[in-house]
Amino acid sequence: MWDEEIDLYAVKEVRTRTTAYLGAGAIAKMKDIAAALKARGVTSVLCVTGGHSYKLTGAWDHVVAACDEQGIRITLYDRVTPNPTTDSIDEAAKLGAEAGAQAVIAIGGGSPIDAGKSAAILLANPGHTAREVYSFTFVPEKAVPIVVINQTHGTGSEVNRFAVATITDLNYKPAIAYDCLYPLYSIDDPALMVKLSPAQTRYVSIDAVNHVIEAATSIVANPLSVLLAQETIRLVAEYLPRAIENPGDLRARYCLAYAAMIGGTAFDNGLLHFTHALEHPLSAVKPELAHGLGLSMLLPAVIRQCYPARPHVLAQILQPVVPGLKGMPDEALTAARGVETWLASVGVAQKLTDEGFGEGDIERLCDLVEKTPSLGLLLSVAPVPGTRDRVAAIYRESLTPLPKA
Ligand SMILES: [Fe+2]
Repeated sequence: MWDEEIDLYAVKEVRTRTTAYLGAGAIAKMKDIAAALKARGVTSVLCVTGGHSYKLTGAWDHVVAACDEQGIRITLYDRVTPNPTTDSIDEAAKLGAEAGAQAVIAIGGGSPIDAGKSAAILLANPGHTAREVYSFTFVPEKAVPIVVINQTHGTGSEVNRFAVATITDLNYKPAIAYDCLYPLYSIDDPALMVKLSPAQTRYVSIDAVNHVIEAATSIVANPLSVLLAQETIRLVAEYLPRAIENPGDLRARYCLAYAAMIGGTAFDNGLLHFTHALEHPLSAVKPELAHGLGLSMLLPAVIRQCYPARPHVLAQILQPVVPGLKGMPDEALTAARGVETWLASVGVAQKLTDEGFGEGDIERLCDLVEKTPSLGLLLSVAPVPGTRDRVAAIYRESLTPLPKA
């Protein structure tokens, strides 16, 4: 297959609605991107990031050098946390507005990218807050140009129109989707991803797998979302074990980065449903919970519910992780167990009880699914009706491993 032969160091331009640069060394494209921003009249940018990896990977040095060369001033906001809050987005945007920022450069994984995208909305719409955006009381039509330097291989946010943030006091973690949120440019450089820990490596890759399973089975799934789902799962099945075994395996990181990128385009087309709608309340209530871990605990029960409605598509796309499915509706439990076994084989065997959730939390989680803005919309495109009973059944079945055959 192409993935065993491709030159990792040949930086390829991948065009979706975003122009993305893929390949080891793609970070050097920052030079061209800064020149393109300057040509648009940008003289001041807000850089949104968090943690230390933006410096440790060398990404920051490239951004500074590229912007310096073009005379672009950088204002740094580096306090984005995992599961970013609307408050932190307001803080970042305020800093950017004070500096007259005309574009945003986000560096990191899903959290800094989504915070950066959201700050780009606020910079283009002075007087509004992130809380308004995530409560849907303000519907934006514009954002300042967004550049993404992606440092994980899961979110897909670098090539699509989605962003997620938490309204802390309400425990709401809604998703927004606007055309103005497509990044203008993105960089997917696998050399920036080799320092991801084995746990992060697992969780972000499982995020990508969830994106495509949902995008291929929703009621708005299209042939492209199914095609991309098949390739994403093939690549993750092949290269996730390699990246866990040897984090510096650049070919594995390249293929996982590409898998996550096309997964982002898959759900830009086919949207998301059960696993994301039910995970967001988990990590809203427990912000330290990794998004990918939350998804992983729910996925087998979601497969069991959805398989009878989409047996052919699921049998086809799951083939690399659950071989032998025939596409018969009565295989739902077999498919769900197969996915659970595969998740355990890549080191993610946890279920909700292991992370502190119990039977007593289910009603509250169901309430959050119903009340959190946007999650009802996700459930409305699920392949089977997203009733409260079904949502509760998925949470309940995700407390512990599925019954063995
Ligand atoms: Fe996700």
